[in-house]
Amino acid sequence: MTEQTRTVIDRDPAPLLEVEGLVKRFPIRRGLFGSGAVHAVEGVDLQIHAGEVLSLVGESGSGKSTLGMCVTGMSTPTAGRIRFAGEDVALASRRGRADFRRRVQPVFQDPRSSLDPRWPIERTIREPLDAYRVGSSVERTARVAELMDLVGLPRHFASRQPRELSGGQQQRVAIAAALALRPELLVADEPVSALDVSVQAQILNLLDELRNRLKLALLFIAHDLSVVEHLSDRVAVMYLGRIVETGPVERIFSAPEHPYTRALIDAIPHADPGRKMSRIRLTGEIPSPVNPPSGCRFHPRCPVAVDRCSTEEPQDTQFDEGHSAACHVAAAGLAQRRSIISTISEGATS
Ligand SMILES: Nc1ncnc2c1ncn2[C@@H]1O[C@H](COP(=O)(O)OP(=O)(O)OP(=O)(O)O)[C@@H](O)[C@H]1O
Ligand code: SF4
Ligand SMILES: [Mg+2]
Repeated sequence: MTEQTRTVIDRDPAPLLEVEGLVKRFPIRRGLFGSGAVHAVEGVDLQIHAGEVLSLVGESGSGKSTLGMCVTGMSTPTAGRIRFAGEDVALASRRGRADFRRRVQPVFQDPRSSLDPRWPIERTIREPLDAYRVGSSVERTARVAELMDLVGLPRHFASRQPRELSGGQQQRVAIAAALALRPELLVADEPVSALDVSVQAQILNLLDELRNRLKLALLFIAHDLSVVEHLSDRVAVMYLGRIVETGPVERIFSAPEHPYTRALIDAIPHADPGRKMSRIRLTGEIPSPVNPPSGCRFHPRCPVAVDRCSTEEPQDTQFDEGHSAACHVAAAGLAQRRSIISTISEGATS
């Protein structure tokens, strides 16, 4: 977390984005008479402050993209509330919704899917300015040049077609188009995972630079933790439709509480070899979100599960300022630590 961001958060405690009890289910038909639903997102709460980077991580199928689509307004939640700058997006007027879509912009995994292959780069970046009728024609041309500079694209690329650009350059074009309307929040869904490893760091650095220069907030979606450490202020870990742990990035990496978070950290090749905590290896596949496991959804794969895990759903426990996790065993560990501390302090005062 940069000093700059910390100042922004301290000054403005009201979140830019507030998600409360968000549910997204996809109805499905099973057999001739059966029906059911994919429980893609099940009761998610999260907040993002102005200028803050929140990374959302979890395995494939955990519901990250579905949550991201709801946040950008591209998908309608089944239940729950999304507030942007204090306003309930579902209750906003037509004008309010258009304003929301301008202020929250998506960036996708595969830049080819967001670029029209027939359009030269200049037209792709200019399109949002035309759609929202921003400034005069001359001003829009100048803004396109400014955006190309901002994302590090040489200006002579303006007349090129997407196929003439590398994957990394295409992603820069997609980011420039997403920034055209001066959004306050970018929702970047795995923006580097389709790129060569050598280019990934360049795009991550670009996002980091942009959030600092433009005071942009970012919801950064990734399926592994290794790419988020440098960029994030906070991390939210998602498993089978739920946020199982959330906290400041340093805390998540140095003292994760949820066994699933620990397993994701242990899967990082360079994870701290000196760490004292026992290692957790993730085995098996994420279960189907059509019939999620009872109790704690992670219990069929959890190496430290206890009896109650299969019947009782764990609630969020706060471990520290801004750090919470939903795990029976971690909560019991915290209660034990607190009881030891209170016994020691009672002993010291008696
Ligand atoms: N339109 C849809 N109709 C039915 N099921 C869907 C739809 N979109 C997503 N799902 C299901 O919802 C669940 C969550 O999917 P989602 O794409 O949000 O996960 P994810 O965490 O983004 O995964 P990945 O890392 O693979 O991108 C998955 O089981 C997926 O198959
Ligand atoms: S609640 Fe139980 S099953 Fe779930 S993560 Fe904690 S220990 Fe594992
Ligand atoms: Mg996804």
